[in-house]
Amino acid sequence: MLPVPSPSVTQPPPAEAVTPLIRGLDVLRRLTDADGTLALAELARASGLARSTVDRICATLAHLGYVRLDGRDASLAPPLMAVANAYLDALRVPELLGPLADRLADELDESVSLAVPDGPDIRFVHQVLRRRALSISFRVGDALPGGGSAPGLVFRDGVPLAVDDQLVERGLIAVAVPVRGPGGDVVCAVSVVSHTSRHGVSSLRGAVLGALGSCVAEMEAVLARQPQVTGLRPGPRSSITGEAGSAPIVSLARGLSVLTAFDGAGPALSLTEIASRTGLARATVRRALITCAYLGHVDQDERVYRLTPRVLALGCAPLSRTTLPRIAAPHLAALSERLGESVGLSVADGDRVRCTARVAPRRVMSVDIGVGSRLPADVTAAGRVLLGGECAGAAVVDGPEDGLRSVAVPVRDRDGRIVSALDVTAHQGRGDTDAWTDALRTAAASVAADLHVTSRFVPVPVL
Ligand code: PHB
Repeated sequence: MLPVPSPSVTQPPPAEAVTPLIRGLDVLRRLTDADGTLALAELARASGLARSTVDRICATLAHLGYVRLDGRDASLAPPLMAVANAYLDALRVPELLGPLADRLADELDESVSLAVPDGPDIRFVHQVLRRRALSISFRVGDALPGGGSAPGLVFRDGVPLAVDDQLVERGLIAVAVPVRGPGGDVVCAVSVVSHTSRHGVSSLRGAVLGALGSCVAEMEAVLARQPQVTGLRPGPRSSITGEAGSAPIVSLARGLSVLTAFDGAGPALSLTEIASRTGLARATVRRALITCAYLGHVDQDERVYRLTPRVLALGCAPLSRTTLPRIAAPHLAALSERLGESVGLSVADGDRVRCTARVAPRRVMSVDIGVGSRLPADVTAAGRVLLGGECAGAAVVDGPEDGLRSVAVPVRDRDGRIVSALDVTAHQGRGDTDAWTDALRTAAASVAADLHVTSRFVPVPVL
């Protein structure tokens, strides 16, 4: 079964809502439901907007780095993950409880997830997947129907334990229990997920209950030391009123900056605080908040605003499924185009380096190193970078064949560890090694920036 599509709002917008922001968020939601990519013509058809309007919205989103335009298609781009990160950081649940969920998954050797309610649905905020032949593919940001999933039943019925016996998908079984904050409110549900080939529902319960119970006790102890984690306070729907008026497309950019104003240090913000964090006028912030509240991305509670899990419908799940080669692909294409040479990405694989992506310009003689090919580390510049220790800078190597030169630089993860190498490999004497090194460093910095924003709350495989 596919995750539920993000809900569309049926009531008319309040008069002071910002139309370009409504449309821009609708485009992001449609791209998310389509798993990240749609033709512009299809976006126009599905949204009922004029093609010229869709083009302007997508151009604005592309300008912000949130969408990539590629011929006729629009695709979600890694920097959009900043919007999901704002919510996940403000929620603090992934940061505080994620490591305990990871440990539980190791202990049980089963997939474990954390979910919160999102209107009638549930949304995953943390996922630890166990790779199996039959593996579950829900990711952070995906939603499931509340009444048809184990965490949904926990929230809906207030029960201490709920079971999903193939409600979501044939063969998939899950047990979920609530995790409560110090005030007794349910903060999230933790699920252990398995398959009928491994367990029946009662054997799954029997196998996991002990470890699940101790894990929840530990999670609740962590939450007890964090009184500011307020849990599930849906808050009343915003009903503020104000001035109307038409708005240019900058209002889309401004509205999105209101969403990314929230974080772990400011999970609940007043209008004044958002204005000062974004540098926007209070009236602008207010109208953006009215719009986001109308679409269900923001809740108002007294004088403060909070993001809701619906924010994760803006790109999170497709971007959670990405890999480093996919993140790097457009940067490799741009670099290859700029240098007119073959550029590649590789990872360490034992004492070899494995090519994970390559873009080569069309020419009579070009370097032919296919994705998946493995070369001895010591004869390639990428190998020197990958095996050369954390202080490795750029490496220049003549080889692996006579007449070839390769230059490589490291790509580092959020912790500064070298996870990949980016290289240019070409015939010696064709290019300027220093110029190549500079261009590689710039491209590696762009790849790393995209990797860092994407991997803040979800693991990004390096191949
Ligand atoms: C999950 O993929 O984490 C999952 C799926 C179905 C459930 C609960 C959790 O009922």
